[in-house]
Amino acid sequence: MTHANILIVEDERIVAKDIEERLRELGYKVAGIASTGEKAIEKSEAMHPDLVLMDIKLKGDMDGIHTAETIKNRFNIPVIYLTAFADEATLERAKVTEPFGYILKPFNERDLRSTVEMALYKHAMEKRLKHSQEMKVLGQLAAGVAHEVRNPLNAILAITEALFQDIGDNKEYQPYLEHIRTQVNRLSDLMKDLLELGRPIKSSYLRKELLGGVCASTLNLWKQMALSEHHEVQLISQIEPDEVSVNIDSPKLQQVFLNLLENAAHQSPKESTIIFTILSPVADAVKIHISDSGVGIPTDKLGMVFEPFFTDRRGGVGLGLSIVKHFVESMGGSVRIWNNDPPPGCTAEVILPVGGKEKD
Ligand SMILES: Nc1ncnc2c1ncn2[C@@H]1O[C@H](COP(=O)(O)OP(=O)(O)OP(=O)(O)O)[C@@H](O)[C@H]1O
Ligand SMILES: [Mg+2]
Repeated sequence: MTHANILIVEDERIVAKDIEERLRELGYKVAGIASTGEKAIEKSEAMHPDLVLMDIKLKGDMDGIHTAETIKNRFNIPVIYLTAFADEATLERAKVTEPFGYILKPFNERDLRSTVEMALYKHAMEKRLKHSQEMKVLGQLAAGVAHEVRNPLNAILAITEALFQDIGDNKEYQPYLEHIRTQVNRLSDLMKDLLELGRPIKSSYLRKELLGGVCASTLNLWKQMALSEHHEVQLISQIEPDEVSVNIDSPKLQQVFLNLLENAAHQSPKESTIIFTILSPVADAVKIHISDSGVGIPTDKLGMVFEPFFTDRRGGVGLGLSIVKHFVESMGGSVRIWNNDPPPGCTAEVILPVGGKEKD
């Protein structure tokens, strides 16, 4: 059960108090009681409750239906109507506002609980679906733009290289050419990331690979990166090298681990060690942890770090973790990140299903 925060909108005080008590008994929090439509809107704006229980017939200028419509449109908070009786016309008007449920008065705890739980679940699902649709459109748009921008960028880079050949020795021009080269390479990396984000990994590209091997080859790649100079990565494996296979796209999984190692290195003190652990599989899933001893993530930012373009790092673009999530989910897995307890630092966890098809 959830510990949702619920706003009660009811103009009869005794009834409102009774509902409040019953909600508390069921384990919910009560965000407040509003007796008019106007107060309900004010409280919704100030407290952002998870759900509103709304008496259909409210006294005053705004009735329950009008209020519910405003709350839904302005704050996207789900509303359940409470009603003792309602004529056809009122019910028809209520229906148009797409409520997440009706509760008929008098009601018992079971009705209240099941309707509230259903509404919270349905709302969460709708939000998730909307988010994944938005991500899909964003990914397609980003990939489309990146595709168009890549060719002119490559042309600029080729011309810059040609200019280097011709006039690169000239001390006056050299800094300008270096600058163009650096900036074009930066744009080119960004376009590559945007293309990755917009492309789903086809399941036909997934192959059965040994997890130990992929992690070991990731470490070899890591050692070739400049960042690795000041950050040792210690690989701890609780599995035998040939024990666990996963169904993956190997270069993409390597990129997942590299992005996580990169973040760990960026966010932790120089010369600190990053721990890369492969845990023993449990119930057909294997977990990989990348743990650092850095600054950690402020609690209010934890929910945002996987959003595209969220970054708190100077020079960061904010696509690293979005790509990690996109790749891992395409391979049937999931990813989380949390602050270590006790601090310092964070741990990123990748979970992958064990097994998969043999190589063709
Ligand atoms: N290990 C970590 N420790 C502390 N903060 C982290 C860690 N990993 C991610 N973060 C936070 O999450 C944000 C988003 O990470 P993400 O990898 O998506 O983007 P970025 O590293 O800022 O830029 P880039 O696109 O170059 O990867 C970071 O800016 C940082 O604030
Ligand atoms: Mg990053």
